[in-house]
Amino acid sequence: MQSITIRRPDDWHLHLRDGAMLEGVIGDTSRDFARAIIMPNLVPPVVTTADAEAYRARIIAALPKGDKFQPLMTLYLTEHTNPDDVEAGKTSGLITAVKLYPAGATTNSHGGVRDIEKAIPVLERMAKIGLPLCVHGEVTTPEVDIFDREAVFIETVLDPLRKRLPELKVTMEHVTTKDGIDYIKSAKANLAGSITTHHLIINRNAILVGGIRPHYYCLPVAKRENHRLALRAAATSGDPRFFLGTDSAPHVDPLKECACGCAGIYTSINTMSCLAHVFEQESALDKLEAFASLNGPAWYGLPVNEERITLVKRKETVNFPGKVETGAGLVTVFDPMFPLHWDVER
Ligand code: NCD
Ligand code: ZN
Repeated sequence: MQSITIRRPDDWHLHLRDGAMLEGVIGDTSRDFARAIIMPNLVPPVVTTADAEAYRARIIAALPKGDKFQPLMTLYLTEHTNPDDVEAGKTSGLITAVKLYPAGATTNSHGGVRDIEKAIPVLERMAKIGLPLCVHGEVTTPEVDIFDREAVFIETVLDPLRKRLPELKVTMEHVTTKDGIDYIKSAKANLAGSITTHHLIINRNAILVGGIRPHYYCLPVAKRENHRLALRAAATSGDPRFFLGTDSAPHVDPLKECACGCAGIYTSINTMSCLAHVFEQESALDKLEAFASLNGPAWYGLPVNEERITLVKRKETVNFPGKVETGAGLVTVFDPMFPLHWDVER
């Protein structure tokens, strides 16, 4: 039997939601992960340090007994965000990053930033105090094709912003294109990228071939095969600028399986099994720890986890539930379309 032991991983981009959904999904993360960066796109969003403090308390209260999971809180950047509040959040140790959603880019982002000029005072402060900006890197201009939105964002928003504020640390979250990978690699400093589990596994055919499959729809939407291959090469390279951010984003089935379904794929429960499979396919199991457990903490200036987990490769298939009952309703689990054999030993 093959096995691999790595430091306990972290998830550098996670949607936990709130209320019954939070209670229903958090155990799937806290079982395998020590920490996660928690996305602030609640309704209403987490915009102030006080909001983040209250949300953090709700997350801790929802944790299964005995789990030591640590939520790393983010603030949702708006055109009215107060730089002093952001700095206070960082100083107190509560806030790990600030999240930029271009208005309308994805689920619950209507309160996001329309005019980046308006956010410059906050961004300047963040550059000064060393607080990273996490970006959803897609333009929302109606004329721009949805498959081009990441590349156009890099050219028209991200690159000018980084030239203007070279000291600002930017995480390009859920990179989905070769353009994104190349851009991150070309940067001399202060730029890194997270990559999701599902974007390493599916390309856009998964969504559209043989019928429309809403459970493979997320934002940024999966791209062509050449992009998926670029993501796999980056994730399995050991390059410290790339790390795991699952973007696990639960929506109940009725909100996915309808005429205008929500974006988001639920991967918390089987991410480590999927990743071990992918890294083994790429003959890079020795790089899994860098991607899932080392590169993220180094980027965010946090210590690596001392605990270890062991993944074992079983002869039989490891069966995850097809759906999770959350209390808010059923959530479909990501199906990688291949049998999983790697399992986290518990
Ligand atoms: C996320 C969600 O549902 O909150 N959806 C998604 O497809 N990833 C929002 C996001 O991160 O874009
Ligand atoms: Zn997300």
